[in-house]
Amino acid sequence: MAHVLNAYALPESVRPDELAGGTVVVIDVLRASTTIVHALEAGATEVIPCQEVDEARAVAARLPRGGVILGGERRGLPIQGFDLGNSPEEYLPSRVAGKTVVFTTTNGTRAIFHARQAQRVLIGAFINASAVLDQLLRQEQIHLLCAGTRGQPSRDDVLLAGMLVDRILRQGDPSYQQNAQAVAAREAWLRCLPLPRAPEAELPQPQQLAEQLRDSAGGRNLIAIGLDDDILAAAQIDRFRSVPEMDPERDRIRLP
Ligand code: MLT
Repeated sequence: MAHVLNAYALPESVRPDELAGGTVVVIDVLRASTTIVHALEAGATEVIPCQEVDEARAVAARLPRGGVILGGERRGLPIQGFDLGNSPEEYLPSRVAGKTVVFTTTNGTRAIFHARQAQRVLIGAFINASAVLDQLLRQEQIHLLCAGTRGQPSRDDVLLAGMLVDRILRQGDPSYQQNAQAVAAREAWLRCLPLPRAPEAELPQPQQLAEQLRDSAGGRNLIAIGLDDDILAAAQIDRFRSVPEMDPERDRIRLP
């Protein structure tokens, strides 16, 4: 079978059964996937994604009191009665180490559920991009699934998908069959690299990448509610080396 490297600007761009058997990277740079990486790096034992606020409350209520943190957002803001919002740097060891994070966001957790038929589901962000790349170089069927923002593609996600496509083709097997969205994402990424835009050009500095991320649907939403600092946190390329992965039961995300 041909090696496949597909990107999807939104979950709606692909049916769940088309992801079966492949490796999916769920991408919600601003901010769900960035926050999940932070939570697990800060020592959370696992993240349980939930699609609805009430479902998250019910899941948390069944877990031992004191061992669970409720986190997430609606309209970008913390949810009433939850312990934490969706700002990556809120997920400090002092808040989450040794705990289960029950987590619900508007787009990111929905994208995770969309990928449930895949063989493997990884969580990708700029902050763990090279570690994700290392995992993908060994895979034959790769699907980069962007969460988007309220049903619209968001440039923050597309840029990471494009960076991964570019690096897979340059460092791995250049003969992957790509879909049109993978080609477009790679072009968007190459256009945002610092000049000169040679493929081997240095990666952007966090401030430069943050500038690009601000110019996205997700970025504009965060600026409007005063959360610009989260954009810079999401732009720290390769700050971490771990890749969160959905467990085989498909209900919680852990570090391997
Ligand atoms: C989402 O999952 O919709 C995003 O993480 C939104 C946000 O940045 O809060």
